[in-house]
Amino acid sequence: MDFEKIASTYGTPCFVYDFDNISKKYDELKMAFKARKSLVCYAVKANSNLSLLQHLGNTGAGADCVSVGEIRRAICAGIKPYKIIFSGVGKKDSEIEFALLQDILLVNIESSQELICVEQVAKKLGKKARISVRINPNIDPKTHSYISTGLHENKFGVDIDEAKRLYIYVKSSKYLEPIGVHMHIGSQLTQLQPIRDAVAIVANLARNLKALDIDIKFFDVGGGLAIKYTDEKLINMTDYSQMILDELHGLDVTIVAEPGRYIVGQSGYLLTKVLYEKTNESKRFVIVDAAMNDFIRPALYQEAHKINLYGKTTQGSLCSIVGPVCESGDFFAKNIKFPATKSGDLVIINDTGAYGYTMSSNYNTRGKAVQVAVQGGADRCISRAETFDDMIKLEIEFIKGVI
Ligand SMILES: Cc1ncc(COP(=O)(O)O)c(C=O)c1O
Repeated sequence: MDFEKIASTYGTPCFVYDFDNISKKYDELKMAFKARKSLVCYAVKANSNLSLLQHLGNTGAGADCVSVGEIRRAICAGIKPYKIIFSGVGKKDSEIEFALLQDILLVNIESSQELICVEQVAKKLGKKARISVRINPNIDPKTHSYISTGLHENKFGVDIDEAKRLYIYVKSSKYLEPIGVHMHIGSQLTQLQPIRDAVAIVANLARNLKALDIDIKFFDVGGGLAIKYTDEKLINMTDYSQMILDELHGLDVTIVAEPGRYIVGQSGYLLTKVLYEKTNESKRFVIVDAAMNDFIRPALYQEAHKINLYGKTTQGSLCSIVGPVCESGDFFAKNIKFPATKSGDLVIINDTGAYGYTMSSNYNTRGKAVQVAVQGGADRCISRAETFDDMIKLEIEFIKGVI
């Protein structure tokens, strides 16, 4: 990719996504499950750009959404409601109502109180809500604590006994239809065994439910597959799919997977330009025009990303790569070897396709970055850079006096 040309056309900071690689990742996953009926519901939270969703929808993907906003994005991008699932630990009645009115595939239940809310909303609408229950299997996924979701100490899902009670209740309800089981034990998972243990627990539940005449048609294995940011050892895709097929033997279900990071993570690049270099005592800093408001992963998860000075392979001296935001947490890398830079040099932060733009903010009244797609060798803008007027539009009418 000609990052220099893209940076000069669209400006920096700029997120660039390789749409061809995104479809390749989707196809890889879909192919891995070709022996069974499967549905890949892309986790919209990872990157919710409308053009990106439309691109994935065109390849056949459904959507895993965790808010009404994400459902609306998916529908707006052309993803069919019957391929949309609605997850998340806290849903407002208005969100449930919207989801049911759209006739999405299912609502994923995470507590008994939520189940009652869904039933009441369905009753009000005179509809039958298709549901699955998210099981918390109490398994340590061995990942960063902020993205670990499958232990009882985490807020997600319900334990297996509670799940059984919920399904039995659902079976007797006029307004609820149990069609799926669900799990998601965490994100950036690099070990297969915890996923296997969780799938085995949930598969056992699905068998018990079928024996009780509860017709489970969808088995959602969640998302969570890791990508290589630095030197992580990854789960082999064939091992992953084969393990799931083995654990689900004898169960006639459609396999649902809801990956986010795996599909888009490595297809994203954050382009940023060097503003200056400075040295405090003996400490070298390269200050770039992107900041933690654009890309918060390094600050939030202490996650290292590969960073390079465009066109240069030499290693250089130790430095930290930092942004202009007024926080010492505003860094992209600490103490890495980096070549000498000059103002205007282009820096590429790799693997920023997932949880990049979607976690960006206006902190320090910095507008959100422009986003660009590259497909078949051609680049195009898929969201423009946010302007000052964009940032103040919700506030300006409330100030007193005239400016
Ligand atoms: C319920 C659920 N499904 C899927 C995902 C996607 O995870 P990942 O991007 O790691 O595949 C998440 C991420 O937090 C999630 O909470």
